[in-house]
Amino acid sequence: MKVLVIGSGGREHALCWKLRQSPLLTELYCAPGSSGISNLADTVPISPDEIHQLADFAADLKIDLTIVGPELPLSLGLVNEFQSRGMAIFGPRKQAAELESSKVFAKRFMERHGIPTARFNVVHDQQEARRSVEELGLPIVLKADGLAAGKGVFVVHEAEELETALATLFEERRFGAASDRVIVEEFLEGEEVSFLALCDGERLLSLATSKDYKRIGDGDTGPNTGGMGAHSPSLVMDSELAAVVVEQVMRPVVAGMKGEDRLLVGVLYAGLVLTAEGPKVLEFNLRLGDPETQPLLMRIEDDLLPVLLAGATGGFETGRLTFRKEAAVCLVLASEGYPGKPNKGEIIEGLEAAAAHPGVEIFHAGTALRDGKFVATGGRVLNVCASGSNLLEALKKAYAAAAEISWPSKVLRYDIGRRVLGG
Ligand code: AMP
Ligand code: GLY
Repeated sequence: MKVLVIGSGGREHALCWKLRQSPLLTELYCAPGSSGISNLADTVPISPDEIHQLADFAADLKIDLTIVGPELPLSLGLVNEFQSRGMAIFGPRKQAAELESSKVFAKRFMERHGIPTARFNVVHDQQEARRSVEELGLPIVLKADGLAAGKGVFVVHEAEELETALATLFEERRFGAASDRVIVEEFLEGEEVSFLALCDGERLLSLATSKDYKRIGDGDTGPNTGGMGAHSPSLVMDSELAAVVVEQVMRPVVAGMKGEDRLLVGVLYAGLVLTAEGPKVLEFNLRLGDPETQPLLMRIEDDLLPVLLAGATGGFETGRLTFRKEAAVCLVLASEGYPGKPNKGEIIEGLEAAAAHPGVEIFHAGTALRDGKFVATGGRVLNVCASGSNLLEALKKAYAAAAEISWPSKVLRYDIGRRVLGG
């Protein structure tokens, strides 16, 4: 089978790594991919938002299945375009992708279907926002309605922070039309967990539990990022709790979307807080999480290719996925300055030595090859992943491998897994 993966980050590198293990695979392409990915797939210089060019490419090469990594092409209707040309693609149509691309749609959808989430108001200007903050009380969370690369969320503890957030959203308009509408919602107290499943429109194949670390700094300090590390299993979410999430959140979402004629094919990723009243939804993504996907894929035993093809073309044939008992972890190595303006262009040393560690996989998130050497080009630069018989072992392996890698602006969190391990 000929497969096209869309995206260029660590998540897509890991997807290509997993798909390469499938005996059904004959040719693998990745658009646009990266220098790191080019060892595994033919890279194609088309960016994820060029949906017509991507469809032309897939049609010309007679691609059998396309798998979409990032959210932007989904919100632009990439899946609609492929399906209108009769091509198989694993991902939601634009109408379903709204569950991620519009937080207002997602909140109202949850309200309609009785899915537990934080109390909220939708506001359009500073005055309305202030009124809503008064009603709900501090601490409070402000969220731009549209896609903002994970940066449109402001957790506000004090009145001063509120002014900064309001100015960014409504005066500076940093997120453009994405903040025409803004959610003001109650702050949820509790441990944050992710729950991911694959969907074929009707049924769910749950992935193993995982946890990602969103803040830039140790001890969950500093600004939010795309994610600085992840591990699977989560250790906080046991199978009983996972069953509650499936019953209260995942199944009602899939059924609700079907009932609203927005069939949910692709990934359903729920970001949750485990509150004293039970799990409540922070957000939905209709794509694989980055970096959660990296440890999850290291643990999946099944051949993913036939599963995704079935999901895209008529329905899963299996009722569940099998995960290895081992734990897996992903450390994100970023460049200083991230998530603002990261330093770029520095040469990375020690990649080969790190990759030689047993049980370790290195995925590239923001690198480029210059004169035969990898340089850091992104905020998130590398993912150092490892599996081990338990989380502690996986963490030790990953940190040992990460220590081999260096460039002047390298930063990473040193507390991934520490909280769950009780340290
Ligand atoms: P979101 O993109 O909606 O997941 O928000 C990004 C991050 O902001 C989350 O991962 C949480 O850490 C934090 N956050 C968002 N909404 C809330 C909330 N209602 N209560 C507490 N923290 C929140
Ligand atoms: N790691 C969080 C995300 O992919 O949204």
